[in-house]
Amino acid sequence: GELARFVRGLPKAELHVHIEGTFEPELILAIAERNGLEGKLAGYDGDAEAWCESQRSLRNFDDLQGFLDLYYAGCDVLRSEDDFYDLCMSYCRKAAAGGVRRAEIFFDPQTHTVERNALPLSVVINGLHRACVDAKTGLGLDAALIMCFLRHRHPGCTWASPPAPAEEPLSVLEEAIANHRHQIIGVGLDSSEAGNPPSIFRGVFQRARAAGLRCVAHAGEEGPAGYITEALDIGVERIDHGVRCLEEPTVVRRLAQERVPLTVCPCSNHRLQVVRRFFGGENPVRAMLNAGLVVTLNSDDPAYFFGHVDKFGGTHGGYLPANYVVTAHECGLSADEVVVLARNSLESSFASPKEKEVHI
Ligand code: ADE
Ligand code: ZN
Repeated sequence: GELARFVRGLPKAELHVHIEGTFEPELILAIAERNGLEGKLAGYDGDAEAWCESQRSLRNFDDLQGFLDLYYAGCDVLRSEDDFYDLCMSYCRKAAAGGVRRAEIFFDPQTHTVERNALPLSVVINGLHRACVDAKTGLGLDAALIMCFLRHRHPGCTWASPPAPAEEPLSVLEEAIANHRHQIIGVGLDSSEAGNPPSIFRGVFQRARAAGLRCVAHAGEEGPAGYITEALDIGVERIDHGVRCLEEPTVVRRLAQERVPLTVCPCSNHRLQVVRRFFGGENPVRAMLNAGLVVTLNSDDPAYFFGHVDKFGGTHGGYLPANYVVTAHECGLSADEVVVLARNSLESSFASPKEKEVHI
């Protein structure tokens, strides 16, 4: 409709998107076949259309962990630098078509180097980074990479397989600083939030800041508002999700006072039942705007979070424009408020002031 056209035409930044969460079933299948791994895809019997359809029907989730299990399983087929290039380039094409001028793209190195496969870090980063370079020249999309640590990979987490030694995140970081410093702009913290507080990663974030890397962390998605405070206290500059700040007025006050940007992901929060479990079914963006917070809208894992039915019965895709449209409907946003959200995203990016002029 008219709103969707308006949203697509607005220059925007996407500040919270996991590249592994943009992996559409069609591309999973194509890359699996290229690597001779199609036999390992659960439920695949040679009928591509049926398999993609069945994958989409699995994408109904009770909570974050239910989603993460499927998201990590999809990563099994990624083996070569070209696989990571194609994954990233596919996302960049969709983002550019939706009016995204700047994308700060998360990736989970440990998924590929330790958990699902034992790939060299260079395979992951070189492939993703080459796509970012080509997106700039070919699509006019300014894309940058943020390397995320898996927050469940610490010695106190009993279900991680294999169990993570304490030095794992720091050794990934040191390798990235030594060999890939110019290919990433920052570090983040993601995966299973509850029970895995940011303070565990204090030393890793301290090292990242010393190397001039920008710092973000998921906090207050399924975890308590206190995790947002912990994230700020270890030097994080932007909070991913952060919606549960609304449960603690002192946390809201600090976020507003320090003008900390929050990268909210409305379709994700719906599809992972965050909205239902913590906000009585109400999209939290209205309350966050009313509280004076610097809110940005983002897609999180767009290949997995399509199909949200808003409270007026409309269905929406998972990519960035859908997140604006859903929120505009559900929160009764004015056109001015939609523009403010888009401007917040561009202003909250880690691009230099000079680069930002080009985005707007
Ligand atoms: N990894 C991918 N999406 C995520 C999310 N919404 N929360 C935590 N970790 C994630
Ligand atoms: Zn996320």
